[in-house]
Amino acid sequence: MSQAGPGGLLRGRTALVTGAASGIGAAIALAYAEAGARLAIADRAPGPGLDQVRASCEALGAEVVEVHADVSDEAEVERMFAEARAGLGLIDVLVANAGILTESPVADMPTALFDEMIAVNLRSVFLCCRAAVPPMIEAGFGRIINTASQVGQRGGAGLAHYAAAKAGVIGFTKSLARELGGTGVTANCIAPGPINTPLGGELSEEWTSSLMAGLPLKRSGEPSEVAPTAVLLASDPGGNLYTGATLGPNSGDVMFS
Ligand SMILES: NC(=O)c1ccc[n+]([C@@H]2O[C@H](COP(=O)([O-])OP(=O)(O)OC[C@H]3O[C@@H](n4cnc5c(N)ncnc54)[C@H](O)[C@@H]3O)[C@@H](O)[C@H]2O)c1
Repeated sequence: MSQAGPGGLLRGRTALVTGAASGIGAAIALAYAEAGARLAIADRAPGPGLDQVRASCEALGAEVVEVHADVSDEAEVERMFAEARAGLGLIDVLVANAGILTESPVADMPTALFDEMIAVNLRSVFLCCRAAVPPMIEAGFGRIINTASQVGQRGGAGLAHYAAAKAGVIGFTKSLARELGGTGVTANCIAPGPINTPLGGELSEEWTSSLMAGLPLKRSGEPSEVAPTAVLLASDPGGNLYTGATLGPNSGDVMFS
């Protein structure tokens, strides 16, 4: 049942979601719209993915602004936040979710592949958080939600660069949570396990089938099964006591946080 309207868990909240054109980000945008939030949906460029997410969110009654940026680019991230604020005012929830996945053993990994991974999956989180936080502190409320990965907790053969970026996101978020103590702004990670999105298409069949066999739930997840965790972390009072946490909708792949 839709929770939009006076009882919506995110009524009165305004969220910017990166990587909103596809997969987990699209599902989070939809869940936020359903929970009554206003939305800035962000992705690298305009396209059918963002168009569809925008139409679906608006059909749920949400006010939506579409913004575009390469989240690894400092100037583009600053512009993206300026455009989102021009359209919606204070952004009090950030979901820094955009990411890429590539695969290579360390011995063969080109430096450019490593650098690209760190830029898109880690530097982007720093840039988005730095842009998001000051007005949240001023307002005395804010929710930072960064998408990490279970690979950042357990490692993954062929994924050392991805694991390093995602472990970096977790460490960065814990530090930010400590810095923000007492300001009313919280910072947490979601570290999903394997989720059925276009991103997984980049992985070898061998990697995914051996991973699937080892999962306690014996199956990967759907983006719609991750989005409720992002709603929880943004909600009041449900999310109030989480900061520096890493929540893991991961089919049991990692059993610590
Ligand atoms: N799918 C999984 O199994 C899984 C598991 C754990 C974590 N994650 C993480 O979840 C997040 C979302 O992944 P997904 O599975 O939904 O993938 P996806 O490919 O469906 O969506 C990722 C989105 O990020 C956007 N993006 C990529 N690079 C960008 C850039 N430089 N600037 C702006 N936007 C950019 C893409 O255009 C795309 O819309 C990623 O951070 C990913 O690492 C995914």
